[in-house]
Amino acid sequence: MDAADMGDDLERILLSEEQLSSRLDELAAQIDADYAAKDVLLVGVLKGAVMVMADLARRLHGPVEMDWMAVSSYGSGTKSSGVVRILKDLDADLTGRHVLIVEDIIDSGLTLSWLLSNLRSRGPASVEIATMLRKPDAAKVEVDVRYVGFEIPNEFVVGYGLDYAERYRNLPFVGTLAPHVYSH
Ligand code: PRP
Repeated sequence: MDAADMGDDLERILLSEEQLSSRLDELAAQIDADYAAKDVLLVGVLKGAVMVMADLARRLHGPVEMDWMAVSSYGSGTKSSGVVRILKDLDADLTGRHVLIVEDIIDSGLTLSWLLSNLRSRGPASVEIATMLRKPDAAKVEVDVRYVGFEIPNEFVVGYGLDYAERYRNLPFVGTLAPHVYSH
């Protein structure tokens, strides 16, 4: 899917495919340098992180494994509660592992804050976070994030894994939607 496929549903492109790609090159170089020859377990948080996981993992030169978690807030519209339910847990045992959580976006920070303490309780050697996007103005809790692709304004964004009603995840860029999309 690209901008032309969206017609007038696209308001504007916030981060182009090229911008995302060159920032990922930088992040991957930093991660390779920081972890040197350590084995890293990349933990992707479904579903949004699929794109960044695929693109980041392919740029890393060190040995990496990939594993996945699916989490959900309890009930509807309760993201703000910070209570998270595990829908799919990791296959890997984290004991002694260097874990790098891979996320598409940190919004309020509540999901990651919960995930961090959950994963830290499993005896890993380290747990760090890499996120493509962060909205500093939306933060409800401070989360210590080692790798951030871009800080973006507090607007609803889609693309590169991020959805509106499950659509637009397959856009290669990050953009905003025209207001009329939300009204039907
Ligand atoms: C998004 C994102 C993070 C979370 C961040 O996932 O992938 O996991 O929201 O929000 P927070 O900082 O406010 O907790 P979402 O719940 O939209 O699920 P999805 O990835 O399946 O679309």
